[in-house]
Amino acid sequence: MKLIFLGPPGAGKGTQAVKIAQSFQIAHISTGDMLRAEMREGTQLGNEAKSLMERGELVPDDVILGMVKNRIQKEDCKNGFLFDGFPRTIAQAEALEAISAIDYVINLDVPAETLIKRISGRRMCASCGAGYHVSTYAGETCKCGAALYQREDDKEDTVRNRLVVYERSTKPLIEYYTKKGLLHTVNGNADIEQVDAAIRSVFAK
Ligand code: AP5
Repeated sequence: MKLIFLGPPGAGKGTQAVKIAQSFQIAHISTGDMLRAEMREGTQLGNEAKSLMERGELVPDDVILGMVKNRIQKEDCKNGFLFDGFPRTIAQAEALEAISAIDYVINLDVPAETLIKRISGRRMCASCGAGYHVSTYAGETCKCGAALYQREDDKEDTVRNRLVVYERSTKPLIEYYTKKGLLHTVNGNADIEQVDAAIRSVFAK
């Protein structure tokens, strides 16, 4: 199965992607996580992406497409994959079409005020990348024992710009995939388990 999870920052793409990828035994491909790993390793790509990400701007399409093309050649993608945060522009979607078919595009629909609350309370594990929210977890360390931190791009000004960039560059993908008959919009403004059930019901149809 080959899936795309679409939605604005904080819609819950990463949270839901982990569950679906695990239960369908497909690779979870988060371009944001891949870029953060490059930044942690201090690679040239990571250093170039850093300032764009910290401003909430998109990393250039050719950089992202290079990463994705390499990633889907890996052994763990044989059974399928789930893109989380990719594609993010029409150009990325068109380039993807030339390299792989997609079975479903899940669009997580969440109102802006909820997105801001979710993002401002998000904490990440510096080691394994697991995500937490201050409203449901008051600890300062991850289950794996490493410290939690707030993503640089989760600060308020950057979040506002990420939402503007989403409206301008990524939202047009809703129409793009609707026209292709692939889009399924799910209400993402519900409990994590309810959203998970709604996503699975799309595959059961
Ligand atoms: P990326 O890491 O992809 O960030 P994003 O798309 O902005 O998405 P988020 O990670 O903020 O949100 P999410 O939808 O995954 O929500 P989550 O599940 O974490 O990209 C970061 C940057 O990298 C971009 O700005 C860009 O610069 C660059 N980039 C990445 N991909 C790119 C591409 N393809 N092209 C160009 N540039 C690219 O949930 C958020 C919080 O809410 C968590 O705390 C979670 O616990 C909580 N939560 C989740 N679901 C629920 C729920 N149902 N109820 C209550 N709380 C919930």
